[in-house]
Amino acid sequence: MSEESTPEKLVYHPDPSVLEGATVQDWRALEASATADPQAYWAEQASQLEWSRPWDTVLDDSAAPFFKWFVGGRTNIVTNCVDRHLRGARKNKLALIWVGEDTSKVRTFSYFSLNREVEQFANLLTAMGVREGDVVTIYLPRIPEVVFAMLACAKLGAVHSLIFAGYSSDALSSRIQDSESKLVITADGSWVNGKVFPLKDIVDEGIHFSATVENVIVVRNTGQDVSMDPERDHWYHDLCALPIARGHCPTVQVDAEHPLYLLYTSGSTGSPKAILHTHGGYMVGVHTSLQQTFDIREDDRWWCTADPGWVTGHSYLVYGPLLTGATVFMYEGSPTYPHPDRWWQLIEHYGITTFYTAPTAIRSLMRFGDAWPRRRDLSSLRLLGSVGEPINPEAWRWFHEVIGGGRCPIMDTWWQTETGMFQITTVPSMPLKPGAAGRPVFGQDAEVVDEEGHPVPDGTEGLLVLKNPAPAMFRTIFKDEQRYIDTYWAKFPGRYLTGDAAKRDEDGYFWVIGRTDDVIKVSGHRLGNAEVEAALGGHPAVVEAAAIGLPHEVKGNAIHAYVVLAMGREPSQALEQELRDHVAKHLSPIAKPERIEFVEKLPKTRSGKIMRRVLRARALGQDEGDLTTLEE
Ligand code: WT7
Repeated sequence: MSEESTPEKLVYHPDPSVLEGATVQDWRALEASATADPQAYWAEQASQLEWSRPWDTVLDDSAAPFFKWFVGGRTNIVTNCVDRHLRGARKNKLALIWVGEDTSKVRTFSYFSLNREVEQFANLLTAMGVREGDVVTIYLPRIPEVVFAMLACAKLGAVHSLIFAGYSSDALSSRIQDSESKLVITADGSWVNGKVFPLKDIVDEGIHFSATVENVIVVRNTGQDVSMDPERDHWYHDLCALPIARGHCPTVQVDAEHPLYLLYTSGSTGSPKAILHTHGGYMVGVHTSLQQTFDIREDDRWWCTADPGWVTGHSYLVYGPLLTGATVFMYEGSPTYPHPDRWWQLIEHYGITTFYTAPTAIRSLMRFGDAWPRRRDLSSLRLLGSVGEPINPEAWRWFHEVIGGGRCPIMDTWWQTETGMFQITTVPSMPLKPGAAGRPVFGQDAEVVDEEGHPVPDGTEGLLVLKNPAPAMFRTIFKDEQRYIDTYWAKFPGRYLTGDAAKRDEDGYFWVIGRTDDVIKVSGHRLGNAEVEAALGGHPAVVEAAAIGLPHEVKGNAIHAYVVLAMGREPSQALEQELRDHVAKHLSPIAKPERIEFVEKLPKTRSGKIMRRVLRARALGQDEGDLTTLEE
């Protein structure tokens, strides 16, 4: 490999055609002015959206790290996602094109009809007693109703809490209990590679012990028989037929800081934490970041392959593109079913222009060879995007050349559930470096520091921190302000600890390496080691367990577990399989360990803490490091 082509040296310069009419022309100038006065920059961005009352103060940091944005302002994210588009030509523009796993099922909605659906859903929620500030749990697959339900909650000032429709009943139940929601919106089932995943059965199990849930709305999707509790469960289509569903439903104007949603995500310890996002700042940050990074044009067809149950789905499948008035494309199924050209077929058929996906999907599709995408006309594509984990240069090049025809720049967006919006990325006018996320977004600043918080020299690995608050950043952890402070702000006061390791190069580009805490990114999904261990520990054969992430060619990381068996239980392949299934059933299929090893004991500190780093080092054949705290 010549020096020119080492990863750090490889640079792609934007083609002049990419810049024609681009949102951000002179990124250096914008970066400089936003850095000089971030608040003025954000005020300018906020003024592109509609407010029923203007804000008095852009940023109130007097109670940092509890930041408030656009203080005194009143708006509603739905005013900007839907209502304002109804007044002009966008009224008849397609807001949503949905295609089922059975691709003969297609549903399309103009902004006008999207509004009808949202008003109808909001009327029903009102009739069920949902009021401003109430938490509504949404456990739905990728079908249009998930968008309607989210927007209907937001329209009323209610707070939605989506739970990825691949989580088990235990995970669902603990999240419902934590959020104390009274209403659950689900479907009979979802289609997963031709088979039904029984969502309603899981909800029935999940709310069995939940005291708060009064009503369940069930959308008919897969059509199999499900049990319906006559007091508690309601078919959505029956409700829609009621007179109460019809008529105009005004969008409640809320304070900029009014909560919009809770989203549970995994942390280093304990149970998942509910990240809290608000209307005003979130709306501004998500709109700005999508518009600038993906340069949304009036005739774009935007496809973000994420599930609505993750933050990427919230910010860039639902809210962001609707804020920009784009046409959203949404596909129910997975990329490899029934054949590994499903995505390429859809891009061709629907003329997708901007395509945002995850490295793990790219790697898995790459393995099927170039012939599948080569048979399709992908020339409608203009821009590509990647998110969720670092993208390795081989996958980057394949995505760029085979999918993007060597013509489409790839925006590698680094961000988190907590940040709500991109924090490190490029915009199309910037040079690209395969494998590097890029630069802090306008108005943001980041650095790489050592354990004491001192910036390390460029090219050196360290802890990634963000230096500025951002409007779309979460406000707190719901019901746990102390954990919010301790996890993110206590280590380096005034700076936000991301939990990631990174390097910065001499051009100011950030190369994200991965998590430094007890969080594993598996196929881009975020899981806590402790959650997997707890799921294993729930099996009667298991005395204790440790879970770690090890590198995996397609998934990025895969979970490996070490299990100490109860007296009288013998290791066997059958037991290994049983334990893997147990994790799938009690946490989620995405958390299923790749391998389980049965061991006599686990390496622990004298105080009894499992030393996962020792297990990792052993598995990777690396030096085990400092073992002075290891018990005998
Ligand atoms: C973690 C956050 C927010 C998008 C979905 C994931 C990793 C995310 C990148 C990227 C390298 C990335 C980080 C981060 N990550 N995007 N472009 N390059 N790593 O959200 O589930 O909250 O996970 O995902 O490790 O901390 P999340």
